[in-house]
Amino acid sequence: MTVVNYQILLKKRPSGAPAADDFESGEGRVRSPEHGEVLLKNLYLSIDPAIRGWMSDAKSYLPPIAIGEPIRSGTLSQIVESNAEGWPVGQIVQGLAAWECFSTVPVSNLHGKVKTIEGIPLHAMLSVLGGTGLTAYFGLLEVGRPKEGETVLVSSAAGGVGSIVGQIARIKGCRAVGLTGSDDKCAWLTDTLGYDAAINYKAADLRIALKEACPRGIDIFFDSVGGEILNIALTWLNRRGRIALCGAISQINAVELPPGPSNYLQLLAKSARMEGFTTLDFARRYDEARAVLASWIREGQLKYRDDIANGLENAPSHLLRLFTSEPRGKLMVKLANPEV
Ligand SMILES: NC(=O)c1ccc[n+]([C@@H]2O[C@H](COP(=O)([O-])OP(=O)(O)OC[C@H]3O[C@@H](n4cnc5c(N)ncnc54)[C@H](OP(=O)(O)O)[C@@H]3O)[C@@H](O)[C@H]2O)c1
Repeated sequence: MTVVNYQILLKKRPSGAPAADDFESGEGRVRSPEHGEVLLKNLYLSIDPAIRGWMSDAKSYLPPIAIGEPIRSGTLSQIVESNAEGWPVGQIVQGLAAWECFSTVPVSNLHGKVKTIEGIPLHAMLSVLGGTGLTAYFGLLEVGRPKEGETVLVSSAAGGVGSIVGQIARIKGCRAVGLTGSDDKCAWLTDTLGYDAAINYKAADLRIALKEACPRGIDIFFDSVGGEILNIALTWLNRRGRIALCGAISQINAVELPPGPSNYLQLLAKSARMEGFTTLDFARRYDEARAVLASWIREGQLKYRDDIANGLENAPSHLLRLFTSEPRGKLMVKLANPEV
């Protein structure tokens, strides 16, 4: 019997924000793995801003997705056929695959074997114990290097990464201040996640609100947004302040490269540091970070929220939600349960 592989393909490259008609559904064949490859049944798709970058024809750390190809995506998957030593059938893995029910990939696409942790659901391996949690952990602790009593400002603070960053800052004895795009999300940050203060950057005069929320200035700015928010935050950076440059979602849909932060000489005036990072820089330490994050979850110090859509057909609309103020926490799409 031939198994049909349902897929979501890139129909055309977006101009500006992605739209529903940039995608089309398709049916491919399921290919048996050649030497060094495995056949994956995809269980969860990770919905990340990076996907928008791969839909463009721009140079990046990975090549653009070709027109007519399935949308590339981080996944949580189960090996259903293996032609690679050390990667047995039944193993659940995290990796880079695509928006399709089955993917045949080389083992170099696999980021690791997933060990489920008692009391923590499988999908958390794609969020708080996966890319978003690891990004928050290494970006804050290794790039920001927080010290007790410091003030940590976080942009997109209710997002997948940001919702974890502020809580780690609190665990490390810092004052955590979050920026997000609605009053409801501000309340979630302070009342549920324990942020000390939250600012609705769409409603407030950010210059005034930051001064009030960060009375002793900003020691660390964990920035996922860039643009005008970064420019304004630079003004309140303390001497020897640090900016952990995680992402720039405000610029990801720009048709032309926007101007850089005009306020960057604040770095000079404050002897401050702005440092970019990718989570992959810390790949050798993922297990160590996962163990710490899991212990914080078990102790009730770290909360997380996964915003899960069901069904491959809902992947495009879930991706479009990333560029609105709707979501809280980490977006993902569930395709299937693992086979036992
Ligand atoms: N360096 C790395 O290795 C690495 C790894 C993973 C992710 N990242 C980056 O980390 C950031 C966060 O990723 P995530 O997956 O957790 O996404 P996310 O923060 O959950 O992104 C969705 C949120 O971004 C905010 N947003 C969307 N468009 C915006 C705009 N034009 N201006 C300001 N805010 C906007 C919205 O929240 P509001 O309501 O708050 O506006 C939206 O709900 C992204 O920039 C991503 O590229 C970096």
